[in-house]
Amino acid sequence: MERTLIIVKPDGVQRGLTGEIIRRFEARGLRIVGMKLIQVSRELAEKHYDIHRERPFFGSLVDYITSSPVVVMALEGTNAVEAARGTIGATNPAKAGAGTIRGDFGLEIGRNLVHGSDSPENGLIEIANFFTDAELVSWGRDTDRWIFETK
Ligand code: RTP
Ligand code: MG
Repeated sequence: MERTLIIVKPDGVQRGLTGEIIRRFEARGLRIVGMKLIQVSRELAEKHYDIHRERPFFGSLVDYITSSPVVVMALEGTNAVEAARGTIGATNPAKAGAGTIRGDFGLEIGRNLVHGSDSPENGLIEIANFFTDAELVSWGRDTDRWIFETK
């Protein structure tokens, strides 16, 4: 089943929004298969955001994600990547729709609260960057058949 890496970024954790953000993904139907609070190292931040290395905002992006602890989650479900990005909202919170995390809680692109993988392939790569195999749990919920049409 498809997996996505979600990060509650430093602003989300500092503002006490971690629970609210997790709640939204759980309510959506996504299954948590890994979760922990960590301090991201510059090395891991630069690896995670490698695709943005040549962009002018790369330095501030690495500073931001390493500025305070984050909560990382591996979430699983049908269409997990697309569904999670819908729940997160547009990159710039000023343009994000009401009802999305960024639209409800954010104002600026450099304080946009949450990360979500942008493709199923990157979901698996990013999860492997942040979690060991032993930290990921494959499990079933008793509600799965009411969320997934086929398991
Ligand atoms: P994310 O990777 O964090 O889920 O966000 P995203 O896919 O919506 O956006 P992406 O293009 O991957 O950009 C990664 C993060 O870089 C910051 N950013 N700043 N100043 C800027 O123009 C700019 N553009 C992007 C944002 O924090 C964005 O989430
Ligand atoms: Mg992205």
